Amino acid sequence: MDSFNPVTPQGSAINDLWLWALFPSALVLLLVGGLLLVIVIRFRGRPGQPDPPQVAGNRRLEIFWTATPALVLAIFFILVVRTMRTVDAENPSALRVNVLGHQWWWEYQYPVLGVVTAGELRLPAGQPATLQLSAADVIHSFWVPQFGWKRDAIPGKLNLLPVQVDRPGVYDGACTEYCLTQHAWMRIRVIAEPREQFEAWVRQQGQPARPSGELAARGQQVFLSNTCVNCHTVAGTAATARVGPDLSHLGSRSILGSGVVENTPDNLSRWIRNVQDVKPGVLMPAYQTLPSDDLRALVEYLEGLK
Ligand code: CUA
Repeated sequence: MDSFNPVTPQGSAINDLWLWALFPSALVLLLVGGLLLVIVIRFRGRPGQPDPPQVAGNRRLEIFWTATPALVLAIFFILVVRTMRTVDAENPSALRVNVLGHQWWWEYQYPVLGVVTAGELRLPAGQPATLQLSAADVIHSFWVPQFGWKRDAIPGKLNLLPVQVDRPGVYDGACTEYCLTQHAWMRIRVIAEPREQFEAWVRQQGQPARPSGELAARGQQVFLSNTCVNCHTVAGTAATARVGPDLSHLGSRSILGSGVVENTPDNLSRWIRNVQDVKPGVLMPAYQTLPSDDLRALVEYLEGLK
């Protein structure tokens, strides 16, 4: 996570502004600090010396040190407003993604593409996107340092975060508004990929995943006959609840629980058996009484949802 290495035009604009502010500020610091040092050494009082001449007021100096900072501030005001306009500029053809903060995970809905996912945000590289931020419970904040800026996700309010990720890659971020127990593990992972790859992903996400094999088919029965269906959706089945993350393509994601662990069968098994061991405080109940055969089948089913 590196905010000095932006991968969006928005982040570059903010970085440029920061550099523009840094150099004059450093100059002023050196000038004031240097003068202070020279004066303190050169004009220090010595024993037996009379008081120096006392002066009051100097119109020319006062005009200088009022006008100069006013001018500098005016220039920065213009630069800041210009940067804000660049960063906030919305592209009407941008890909719109609803980003919904939950305690403690992120939901991503692509209304036009008909895709809903969680944990990982996929974006096409080099194309404008507008993240439409909101929240389901309390205030969260969406921060990916390499995007160069962040915005709050507030319940009942829509905040827009235009971004265009120019460099394909994986960019991590975090929630930056304290939202109770698992705030620290409300991580963000953004995968920016070339257009064809992104489109292939959209096509794959648009198809319901089918259980592959006998064990997975049994896992699907376990899933549908337990309370899993009270909270989760799996496309193409009777499970359509929207309380927890959409699991339709869980097997295609690299992380579980907003990044608290990698998505492996072992970790998923631990998660289902007793989630409080993996991420204390989350709202999902433990399934410690689930027979281990059923658990194995369930994990096989969920991990097969690609
Ligand atoms: Cu969500 Cu902190």
